[in-house]
Amino acid sequence: MGGGVIRFGVSMEAELVESFDRLIAERGYPSRSEALRDLVRRELVRREWDRPEAEVAATVSLVYEHHEHHLQDLLTEIQHRHHETVVSSTHVHLDAHNCLEVVILRGPSDRIRKLADGLLACRGVKHGGVVATTTGKNVT
Ligand code: NI
Repeated sequence: MGGGVIRFGVSMEAELVESFDRLIAERGYPSRSEALRDLVRRELVRREWDRPEAEVAATVSLVYEHHEHHLQDLLTEIQHRHHETVVSSTHVHLDAHNCLEVVILRGPSDRIRKLADGLLACRGVKHGGVVATTTGKNVT
């Protein structure tokens, strides 16, 4: 389908619209349309992640103590082993003990999910999180 903007009417229960409007106000959306577009995009990205072969992107954040020598080595080892899906990684020395590492991944969703889970599950990681996002190709 080509570009352009299509306007369409949506019927919704009054209570649902009221809840939606509260959500819009809380999140600071400029309009219902923008909020709705975001919801649709979120579902499209979720669907990409449901397809194992779909190419997706993700960031993985890891906080750990660099004194845990084996952990630093292990995280590096894992990233080398999956160099084809690790796009980049950044290491920040938060203080004398703590490190924050952000790993950017790109590839088939099943492989990315396994790799992200594997990084988070490493012993010694204090806190970690994954942002599962899209390459943007199929989401306008
Ligand atoms: Ni460090």
